[in-house]
Amino acid sequence: MRNILVTGAFGQIGSELIPALQQRYGAAQIIVSDIRMIPLQAHIGAEQSYEHVDCTQPQQILEVVRRRDIGTIYHLAALLSAVAEERPHLAWSINMGGLYNVLEAARQCQCRVFFPSSIGAFGPSTPRDHTPQVTVQRPTTMYGVTKAAGELLCDYYAARFGLDVRGLRLPGLISYVAPPGGGTTDYAVEIFYQALRYRHYRCFLGPATRLDMMYMPDASRAMIELMEADGGPLRHRNAYNVTAMSISPEDLAGEIRRHIPGFAIDYQVDPVRQSIADSWPRSLDDSAAREDWGWAPRFDLATMTADMLARLSETVTGPERPRPEAS
Ligand SMILES: NC(=O)c1ccc[n+]([C@@H]2O[C@H](COP(=O)([O-])OP(=O)(O)OC[C@H]3O[C@@H](n4cnc5c(N)ncnc54)[C@H](O)[C@@H]3O)[C@@H](O)[C@H]2O)c1
Repeated sequence: MRNILVTGAFGQIGSELIPALQQRYGAAQIIVSDIRMIPLQAHIGAEQSYEHVDCTQPQQILEVVRRRDIGTIYHLAALLSAVAEERPHLAWSINMGGLYNVLEAARQCQCRVFFPSSIGAFGPSTPRDHTPQVTVQRPTTMYGVTKAAGELLCDYYAARFGLDVRGLRLPGLISYVAPPGGGTTDYAVEIFYQALRYRHYRCFLGPATRLDMMYMPDASRAMIELMEADGGPLRHRNAYNVTAMSISPEDLAGEIRRHIPGFAIDYQVDPVRQSIADSWPRSLDDSAAREDWGWAPRFDLATMTADMLARLSETVTGPERPRPEAS
């Protein structure tokens, strides 16, 4: 088996996907890359598996793919929805330019590619409930534009050059390992830290804002299972709708309150992130993924919440202490 390269590996997804890949294929096969330098307390791999790769630089990708004998690329490097709205030009350059460079390197070196699309690839004219696999995609955010165009570009490389490119339309992801990177669903992670520390959370989305979510262990498994699936039955490579739960801030707060009875939530709506959320589906139809490659989530709202609180309560206790004054 040729090696696996993960771009943008130090982000929220990479921090859990890397250990899952290492466990499945062996640490020596996984090459970890990011534009960021390897963290000092690197928990996701040794120095020898790290490469500094800026995805906007085609030669850097190509050189690593050749030198490290890469056969599969999990391309995670991107700017997320809220950050992309603040910096749309940079988002186009990283999200579209980076994907193009990865696909070109893959074409030249015959690699397989995983591309994480998003519920952001849909827009306000998409049916918002039980959103079909194939439907209207007219996103109104720069993030969504790059995801919808990215899906098309992947399909083009598959049809034109025979590249094995596969993707998922991931919902908001909830994880206890790494903080989220500036997305519209970040509240669903922040709420756990604030609940454990302060018994209180001020949410930037309104109480009834319903969106699809998934616990990260399910998301890592979905990516690996899709890439391992027999290609024959795959009707939609870019990209499969997947979901695990459709929840609102008040649903999540209610579930947390079952474990932390005094927990309180109030709301200070951020108009930018609220308008992004209001343009996204409330719930996805993921029946195509279930039928074509056997997708099924293992965590629902109750089991995800219990696991998040159990894991985080080992590390997050009491209010954050103020940092000592610099001398
Ligand atoms: N987290 C979610 O809820 C979610 C949901 C749907 C889709 N996705 C998609 O999954 C992918 C990974 O998401 P994430 O949550 O881990 O994001 P993140 O923001 O946590 O991490 C992205 C990583 O990319 C790196 N990066 C940025 N610019 C780069 C460049 N030019 N070259 C190389 N690396 C660069 C960053 O340093 C960071 O480590 C993205 O494509 C995102 O759109 C994420």
